Amino acid sequence: MSTTTVKEVKTIKTLNNIAASGLNVFKKGNYTMDDTSNNPDAILLRSFNMHGLELGDKLKAIARAGAGVNNIPVEQCTAQGIVVFNTPGANANAVKEMVLMSLMASSRNLFEGVSWTKTIATEGDQVPKLVEAGKKQFVGHEIKGKTLGVIGLGAIGALVANDALALDMDVIGYDPFLSVDTAWNLSRNVQRAMTLEQLFAESDYITVHVPLTEDTKGMFNKQAFDFMKPGTQILNFSRGELVNEIDMAVALEEGRIGRYITDFPNENVLQMKNTIAIPHLGASTEESEENCAVMAARQVKDFLETGNIKNS
Ligand code: MLT
Repeated sequence: MSTTTVKEVKTIKTLNNIAASGLNVFKKGNYTMDDTSNNPDAILLRSFNMHGLELGDKLKAIARAGAGVNNIPVEQCTAQGIVVFNTPGANANAVKEMVLMSLMASSRNLFEGVSWTKTIATEGDQVPKLVEAGKKQFVGHEIKGKTLGVIGLGAIGALVANDALALDMDVIGYDPFLSVDTAWNLSRNVQRAMTLEQLFAESDYITVHVPLTEDTKGMFNKQAFDFMKPGTQILNFSRGELVNEIDMAVALEEGRIGRYITDFPNENVLQMKNTIAIPHLGASTEESEENCAVMAARQVKDFLETGNIKNS
């Protein structure tokens, strides 16, 4: 049994799995700067924000149980020789299911329909009549034959693209980071957009699966919306900051964007017309939490014991 200690910052249901992987785990709900006096060798975390915190002098690794690492000060870690891991692909299926479910629910006005039906609960024997009115009010669209633009064809984007094809959608993809060969090995039957503008112009629905970087921040802005068809629906299960919210609010108001479905609501988003706001549930399944926690624990254990850096 290793004598290495790993600090688990946020409760992960699968703590037993982490412990079973041979690490000593100690757990605390609230991590403060004082806690660095515990001096862990590694930190496993999910949503906890490490920016602005001192990193302990024994700290060798931080592993994010998820794909995005924007809650970790990666540059500071690199400067201090601390390895940062994420868990690519471990939550991809959960996010894919959420994206496709939201896409279908949105195109059938299901989110609004379900909320509205609750509001007629006190109408007594008028409920059946009102239900028939709702039937007319919430007529939707089928996704078959519509074009889905997928930006980012990594683990999540490729799954979304391939399954959207199986739902008889036309799928067009663009990846700003992966080499063309890598992206197209992941999603062979997807039509390739030569430019982002082409994808914007041809899509009825756009889903984004890229990390938040200086280059991708605010990539959904007025200029981008101007390329899109009127009424395009945008799904964002990646990071809120990819969208310029001021431009989005205007585009929604003008009907240029038909709907903004986001896993990252804040007070601005909640006030916008035609937003579907989801409380960051994209990767929140028991299966995905288990996969991410176990992968993060394995990576860290392997690294601390052997020096191997394997981000998979
Ligand atoms: C991710 O970066 O993979 C997700 O945000 C994971 C999560 O829900 O914590």
